[in-house]
Amino acid sequence: MSTNAQEKKKVGGLAGIVAGDSAICLCSAEDASLLYRGYSIQDLADKTTFEEVAWLLLRGSLPNGEELKAYKAKLKKMRTLPESLKEVLQRIPPQTHMMDVLRTGCSFLGNIEPETPLTEKYAIADRLLASFGSMLAYWDHYQKTKQSRSLDTQEESLAGHILHLIQGKKPSEMQRRCLDVSLILYAEHEFNASTFTVRTIASTLSDFYSAICGGIGALRGPLHGGANEWAMALISQFITPDEAEEEILNMLHNKQLVMGFGHRVYTTSDPRSNIIKRWAKELSQEAGDTKIFPIAERIEQVMWREKKLFPNLDFYSAVAYHFCEIPTPMFTPLFVMSRISGWSAHLMEQRIANKLIRPISNYIGPTLQPFKPISER
Ligand code: COA
Repeated sequence: MSTNAQEKKKVGGLAGIVAGDSAICLCSAEDASLLYRGYSIQDLADKTTFEEVAWLLLRGSLPNGEELKAYKAKLKKMRTLPESLKEVLQRIPPQTHMMDVLRTGCSFLGNIEPETPLTEKYAIADRLLASFGSMLAYWDHYQKTKQSRSLDTQEESLAGHILHLIQGKKPSEMQRRCLDVSLILYAEHEFNASTFTVRTIASTLSDFYSAICGGIGALRGPLHGGANEWAMALISQFITPDEAEEEILNMLHNKQLVMGFGHRVYTTSDPRSNIIKRWAKELSQEAGDTKIFPIAERIEQVMWREKKLFPNLDFYSAVAYHFCEIPTPMFTPLFVMSRISGWSAHLMEQRIANKLIRPISNYIGPTLQPFKPISER
């Protein structure tokens, strides 16, 4: 029986609970659709760039040509890192998880470029959007070579800049556009665990950087953003589709999770999955692959046949990233480089009509106990 006077409604993992209003994103299970501020994810992925989508999420409407040009130029200038941040990155040990590198980089930037009452509304979102790629690439290069590196790629787009830094060369146009589309797909997804973390922290009237550090921490887990890295580890352990089928059947029999499948909101398909699957297929064909993509497709077929489970965005993103020559430990950090746009939009929305987020728990501990002094315990 409830010990509180008020009636309690308990739902595991808050599934299906409406936790607040938002005008940013509609994620709909009925028709497996996704809208960012009213625009379909298919249109955005086919017809826009990540910078346009970031502007849309943060500012509320699509930019015109002049606004976009100015925005890209602004972001380009913000890619550099202060020397003190580079020194901090140099001190992060080589074996560190790359999500922890971004969390530390974000936190330190909050020390040297703190949010103050005078900070312009979009300044921190844009700064993090522009500089997360530089932070990761700087740290990665320094750990391997013990040398500093240039972060000036001259690439016009954020996707081109990030990929150029990772590959150490100008990426192919197909790879660049694939990453651009992937950043669009990863940018926003309403009250997922990391976004809800960001909003919860923002609701205490804490600062921008603290909220984003919390979001990075939540995204790191394999049930959330970390799934793309686990999906790649799974796919790459097989030599043939038959071998993959056999092992997936074993995993399902043993009630093991197959990373990159299933979703809390969608029930029949993830509207982002087919978009990134097309890119994964094209890149795999361009690379002459006869192994990775067929194995991934077989896993998809088995999961649907056996469990009616469908690939979420993370599954084929892993394949696409692999053919973009991106090392697996960088997959989830790339999610951060995109989702910073959605997180920031939610943080700003939370601040506009703020109410402290503080639910209640269903108490399952002992009833009132007689207190024993320490001598009698
Ligand atoms: N592999 C195998 N079985 C899965 C599965 C998966 N990826 N996802 C769900 N299931 C099974 C569950 O084991 C459960 O089976 P049961 O009814 O026999 O116990 C059933 O499907 C319902 O799953 P449930 O865990 O209740 O769904 P959820 O809404 O709590 O979880 C996820 C959603 C995303 C956390 C879950 O699908 C998952 O862990 N997926 C793998 C991680 C992943 O890809 N995360 C990225 C999400 S975008």
